[in-house]
Amino acid sequence: MAQSKPRPLPHPERLGFSSLAVHAGERLPGFDTKPVTTPIYSSVAFEAPSAEALDAVFGGTAPGYCYTRHGNPTLEALEETITRLEKAAGAIVFSSGMAAIHAVLLTAGMKSGERMVSSQDIYGATQALFRDVMTPLGVETTYAPATDTEAFERAVAAVRPRVVFVETISNPLLRVVDLPAIARIARQAGASLIVDSTFASPVLVTPLESGAEFVVHSTTKYLNGHGDVTGGIVVCAGADSLPMLRQVSKLVGGILGPFEAYLTLRGIKTLPLRMKRQCESARQIAGRLQGHAAIERVYYPGLDSHPDHAVAARLLRDGLAGAVVSFVLRGAGKVEVFRFMDALRLCCVGTTVGDLYSQLLYPAISSHRALSPEERHRLGIGDGLVRLSVGIEDPEDLIEDVEQALAAFAART
Ligand SMILES: Cc1ncc(COP(=O)(O)O)c(C=O)c1O
Repeated sequence: MAQSKPRPLPHPERLGFSSLAVHAGERLPGFDTKPVTTPIYSSVAFEAPSAEALDAVFGGTAPGYCYTRHGNPTLEALEETITRLEKAAGAIVFSSGMAAIHAVLLTAGMKSGERMVSSQDIYGATQALFRDVMTPLGVETTYAPATDTEAFERAVAAVRPRVVFVETISNPLLRVVDLPAIARIARQAGASLIVDSTFASPVLVTPLESGAEFVVHSTTKYLNGHGDVTGGIVVCAGADSLPMLRQVSKLVGGILGPFEAYLTLRGIKTLPLRMKRQCESARQIAGRLQGHAAIERVYYPGLDSHPDHAVAARLLRDGLAGAVVSFVLRGAGKVEVFRFMDALRLCCVGTTVGDLYSQLLYPAISSHRALSPEERHRLGIGDGLVRLSVGIEDPEDLIEDVEQALAAFAART
């Protein structure tokens, strides 16, 4: 956007104290220099060189900004960055990953009488959104196993949905979906494929290239990566989806704050470095934990013991297989898992993934707490399963920490 110069202050020597307090500092003429990094444009409103120019911006016939909920330069810088990284036509940021998922469902046309087929391995809150928000609005969701392509195809053929929803890498069992196969199934049924690619980030895969119509991220996770911003984004394959997505953003109003956008932009600059380091450390940790006497099973798509190892090797770039490792403590229930968690010294016990801090989560009391033990077991989430989001610390230090906590756990079982 061309920067419009502020109106000069009229006769400042005659203005009163309050007028000066409000306006004096805002009316400097500025310089024709561009800051190297995008500033935090915290302003709610933007001026234009003339009323006519402002009218054109409001009317959408000229580019520019008028009101932050409609568009803001810091937010747009973040949107442009992720659009490029995802090889997309455009993107719009939201105040959280959940707000982004809600917005993409509306943009993809979910309304009363419409149907959706979703992978059964998706984030618990997303399932709750489908059940508690979308179902009462008349949207019907059918779950099917997206890692069983034939079963998924049968479900899509039977339901004939408007939307197919999957996660690239699921939580906490790290199932990896064959995105080109799912995109083909969605396309044949005339459905839009929405991919939540939060656990992969655009470093590992760009789902639009596999045929998805929309990608969503909780930017709270790898994209920001520093554990200090909650945010989300919807990325579109086609520019024709953008006006509706912008309309949802403007009218439902779950926009990202400019400060959060600035932090996320800053975080993304090191995304490829962090992601590579975290994935490599995760592989090292998974390899060391596999075969440990106190561990019953390790889930990591980079290990050939993982059911989706071949899909991960085909889909994810540069041999990287994600930065989360899940494992089952041998013979453990809640008491023993708590003992292990309390013995960790370097790894944080926390509920998020993707940060540069390593964090351990116990799904049974957090992400999958709302499910009964039977439902959890049906999904393969036993009482001894924990999830480690691997950060950028030295992998040897992380291994030593997990091993000493395992020793504390094993000593008393
Ligand atoms: C895969 C996935 N999608 C969406 C979300 C929701 O993101 P947020 O917490 O930013 O709303 C999460 C949160 O953990 C997630 O793991």
